[in-house]
Amino acid sequence: MAFVNDNYCNLKDSYLFSQIAQKVNAYVAEHPEKKVIRMGIGDVTLPLAPAVIDAMQKAVAEMGVKETFRGYGPEQGYDFLHEAIVKYYAGFGVTLASDEIFISDGAKSDCGNITDIFSNANTILIPDPVYPVYLDTNIMCGRKIVYMDGKPENNFLPMPDDSVKADIIYLCSPNNPTGAVYTKEQLEAWVAYALKNDAVILYDAAYEAFVDDPAIPRSIFVVEDARKCAIELCSLSKTAGFTGTRCGYTVVPHALVRKTESGKELELNKMWLRRQTTKFNGVPYIIQRGAEAVFSEQGQKECREMLAFYKENARIMAEGLRRKGIKFYGGTHSPYIWLQCPQGMSSWEFFDFLLEKLAVVGTPGAGFGAMGEGYFRLSAFGSRENTIEAMERIEKEL
Ligand code: MLT
Repeated sequence: MAFVNDNYCNLKDSYLFSQIAQKVNAYVAEHPEKKVIRMGIGDVTLPLAPAVIDAMQKAVAEMGVKETFRGYGPEQGYDFLHEAIVKYYAGFGVTLASDEIFISDGAKSDCGNITDIFSNANTILIPDPVYPVYLDTNIMCGRKIVYMDGKPENNFLPMPDDSVKADIIYLCSPNNPTGAVYTKEQLEAWVAYALKNDAVILYDAAYEAFVDDPAIPRSIFVVEDARKCAIELCSLSKTAGFTGTRCGYTVVPHALVRKTESGKELELNKMWLRRQTTKFNGVPYIIQRGAEAVFSEQGQKECREMLAFYKENARIMAEGLRRKGIKFYGGTHSPYIWLQCPQGMSSWEFFDFLLEKLAVVGTPGAGFGAMGEGYFRLSAFGSRENTIEAMERIEKEL
C-alpha cells in the first residue's frame, strides 16, 4: 500500500491565490456584464521590455541554426547570466562569486525546493502576515513552525526575540504583503540573532527593485556577516515582468556551512548544487538570454520605467485611500498597499464587499496569516486606467 503524506491534511484546502481565483471566476460567470478589476495576485500587466524581447528573439534564431543550437544547459544557469547578476549586485556594494548564484524558474519554486536541504527537525520562524509559500511548504514537510507577529506597533517588521529558539528564519523585504522594508540596522540584528543561534535566514528579495532609497538594503548581503547565515531568493517576475516568462535566482554563499544532525559539516552551496543538478534541468537558454538583457544598461533603463509606472499606480491608490481616511502601509518601496479594512469589516468581508458591490478584486489579509485579519492587500500592478477606475469605485462607494 502506498501511503501519502499525512502533512497535507494540515494544509488549508487550497492555496490562497487559487482560492481567490475560484471566487472571482464564480463571480464572473454569474455577472458576465461586469468589468472586474483585478488587484489581487501581484501579476504584472506591462509587456516585457524591448531589450528583453530583442535578446530572446536572437536566442530563438540561434536555436534554429545547427552551429548555435543548445541542448541541456548547466542546471545552475549559464555563466553569462551569473556574470550579469554579479555586476548587478556590485552596483549596490555586494560582491558575489558567480558560482554562488543559481538560476531558477522563479523564487516561488526555490522557496519550496530549498526545504530539501534542511532537516525536518528544524524549528521554522515565520513572520505573520506572510507570503503563504513559506508556511505551506514547511507544513508539507511536517516541521515545527513558530510565528513572529507583524503589527502596527512594529510597523509590520518583527525583530528577533532572544527568548525564541529558531533554526530557519524567513524574512521578506520589501515585504509581501505589507510593503514594509527593513533598515540595514534591523537586518544586522537579524544576522546577529541567526549567527548566535546557528540559524539560517531565507531572505526573499523578490521586490528589491522597488527600493528607491540607497539607505534601504536591496540585499541581505549588504550586512557583511550575512554570508555566514543567509540564503537570498530573488526573482525577475516583478523587477522585469517575468511572471509568465519564469526566471529567478538564489544566492547561496560559500561561507554558509551548517552541521547535519549526525554532526557532519556541509557547505550549503554544494548541497544546493547537488539538489539542483539532481532534480532540475535548468531554465531555457532563450529565457536566460532575456534575463541577461534585464541587467544590461538598456534593459535596466526600460525596467526602471516599468517600475516607475507601477509606483505611480501605488501613489494614485495611496492618495485615494488618504482622501477616504483609510489607514494603510506600504506602497512606497513596494507594489503593495496594505490597508486597514474600513468600517470594522473582517478581511474576507471586505473582499466580498469589494467583489460583489464594486467588482474589484484584492487579497484578504487573513489569507497571509492570523495577524492579517482586519487588513487587506491591493496590488499596483494593474493598468493605469483600471487603477484609476478601481479607486474611483472605492472612493464613491465606501
Ligand atoms: C503575490 O501576489 O503575493 C505574488 O504574486 C505571488 C507570487 O509571487 O508567487
